Amino acid sequence: MLSMASSEKKARGKHSAGNFTGQIGFVLAAAGSAVGVGNLWRFPYLAAKDGGGLFIIVYIVLAVTFGFTLLTSDIAIGRRTGKNSINAYAEMRPRWKFLGILTFLVPVIIMTYYAVIGGWITKYITVYLTGSGLEAAEDGYFTGFITSPGPASVFAVIFMLMTAFVVYNGVEQGIEKLSRILMPVLLVMIIAIAIFAMTLHHTDDSGVTRTGLQGLLVYLKPDFTGLTLRRFLQILLDAMSQIFFSLSVSMGIMITYGSYVKKEVDINASVRQIEWFDTGIALLAGVMIIPSIFVFEGMDGMNSGPGLMFVSLPKVFAAMGGIGQFVGLGFFLMAAFAALTSCVSVLEAIAANCMEIFHTERRRTTLVLTVIYTIASVVIALGYSVFYVELPLPNGSIGQILDVMDYISNSFMMPFISLLSSILIGWIVGSKWITDEVEYGGKRFGLKGLYKVMIRYIVPVIMLILFLQSTGILGH
Ligand code: PHE
Repeated sequence: MLSMASSEKKARGKHSAGNFTGQIGFVLAAAGSAVGVGNLWRFPYLAAKDGGGLFIIVYIVLAVTFGFTLLTSDIAIGRRTGKNSINAYAEMRPRWKFLGILTFLVPVIIMTYYAVIGGWITKYITVYLTGSGLEAAEDGYFTGFITSPGPASVFAVIFMLMTAFVVYNGVEQGIEKLSRILMPVLLVMIIAIAIFAMTLHHTDDSGVTRTGLQGLLVYLKPDFTGLTLRRFLQILLDAMSQIFFSLSVSMGIMITYGSYVKKEVDINASVRQIEWFDTGIALLAGVMIIPSIFVFEGMDGMNSGPGLMFVSLPKVFAAMGGIGQFVGLGFFLMAAFAALTSCVSVLEAIAANCMEIFHTERRRTTLVLTVIYTIASVVIALGYSVFYVELPLPNGSIGQILDVMDYISNSFMMPFISLLSSILIGWIVGSKWITDEVEYGGKRFGLKGLYKVMIRYIVPVIMLILFLQSTGILGH
């Protein structure tokens, strides 16, 4: 085992775990991690809630400032140290190893529930494949499914095993290969469904006809009605936490992927491409979903919140008639691709840290983690039946086990980690440590000035506000 690991190291260069073949492979894999259910479901739902085009403008501004800063930092830390979060932070400053451990805990927590959501999506693929899409449109269908212990667990386990299979096969043969196939397919599918959504029209019982193009306007037009400072701040915070989640930053995942990037790759250009991909898919998801819901359910349908993907959309597909079954299948297939490449990145970040700490080899590490997380996924999947609980969250909502895990990792830990990382980079290690890595080999870093100001002054302040808000201290 040992000799195999060391010969692999020699053959592949700096990293015993293997590397991405080049910039395209890396960008597609990182985009694979970034593009997930967050883009397809969370972004459109937030845009509908937060003033349409207004949210979109705020989001884009924050993506090219905050998103850019956080993503650049993670990737540069990974490539410069060639290590995973725990050891990477320890290398920057030994006393800051605790931050590496904290960062490592985020994917450890997310992994307990991500396969469960992947399982829900997989279930809906089988529903549309077997032609039972109309059943999925009935009231109570989704609740019926997640509260049945057997089916909910089985689909979570299936998704978990698919994820494990990819990680087991390694960086180049597993992750990069999968992303190279799925990401372009996903892009083509979403463009096709978005165009189809534009052509929809429907006349309801009261004789009102609504068209896809009107729906597009609802999505894109900035809505300033009733805009107060307080509401604007809420929109800002929604957009900010969406950026974290969507770009998979501040959870060690991009540090791990960064550690597989070769020295000749242009980090600055890669960051720009990953952001384009991620933001582009999110915007297209809105073009696909908002007009469809508007046409068949009017403005009322917009308020369905998180239930949008599994409750409202099946109703919309049913209303489309026969073709809706195909569109539904296409949509859930696409969602499964997006979720799989994201779930793979979460498991990879955990596996890579474990391999480094315990000096174990990839396959055995993956197998052990698969056993642990299969059990964890089943427990979380049963959180809607056998282990049902109602726990109050600091933001005022009531959650089941899955929501609690999601809240701890995304709302609570990620802003805290970004706050501490920006202090470490901006004030202790110095931003030059990052910018030197971006400029390695004479590469250009056009927005270096912006990066320095962001990481030293702006990111810490905003993250502190976000963190305080997540603890409930600032009210909600
Ligand atoms: N970035 C993914 C999305 O937009 C979510 C994700 C979160 C992926 C955490 C991996 C880890 O859905």
